[in-house]
Amino acid sequence: MTAPTSTPLRVAVLVGSTREGRFAPVVVKWLTGHLGQRDDLRADIVDLAETPLPTVLPAFGQEPPPGTAEALATVSPRLAAADAFVFVTPEYNHSFPAALKNAIDWHNTEWHGKPVAFVSYGGLSGGLRAVEQLRVVMAELNATTIRNTVSFHNAWGAFDESARVDDPAVDTAAKAMIDQLTWWAHALRDAKSVRPYAA
Ligand SMILES: Cc1cc2nc3c(=O)[nH]c(=O)nc-3n(C[C@H](O)[C@H](O)[C@H](O)COP(=O)(O)O)c2cc1C
Repeated sequence: MTAPTSTPLRVAVLVGSTREGRFAPVVVKWLTGHLGQRDDLRADIVDLAETPLPTVLPAFGQEPPPGTAEALATVSPRLAAADAFVFVTPEYNHSFPAALKNAIDWHNTEWHGKPVAFVSYGGLSGGLRAVEQLRVVMAELNATTIRNTVSFHNAWGAFDESARVDDPAVDTAAKAMIDQLTWWAHALRDAKSVRPYAA
């Protein structure tokens, strides 16, 4: 059984860039500002740079190498506990970062029957190609992707030094995305409380 509707939703924010000197923290700071305004949500920032996972997956049915369990313990329980996800992703060569795919691939049931929203950033395309590819990947993992996204085009010019964005349209987009994520997270959590997900 899962939590009743009144319990705040647990939203795991996956930070997809692990690159040295990455821009990601600015976007994450902006996003956590939005999530923090909501009484009905509790955000958990899963920063893949701080919780590196092994990059070699075990053969099917085989035990992973020593040390794997310790690395996974910093991420997997937090994904399992989440009611919803926001992936913060840049665009690398018209796709999403390898570290994000690796974190996705290490898990399976943790994604099942849960909604995923996307905040993307990059050059002219604002990371939208990364997002569209992530939708295909997450469908395979029995997750529901949220229609509305927030994308930062030429992101490095979009924020001030406090990670604020001086564009009301961006705030409107963020609210719409978070509202949709919340709706799906409640709907799916409520549904799973009466009927286990049919993976
Ligand atoms: C390997 C690599 C490939 C990139 N490819 C693209 C791209 O295809 N489209 C784009 O808009 N930006 C691209 N960029 C620019 C990134 O979107 C930009 O550097 C962004 O700041 C990366 O996020 P990060 O700093 O948090 O890692 C690329 C950057 C890197 C490092």
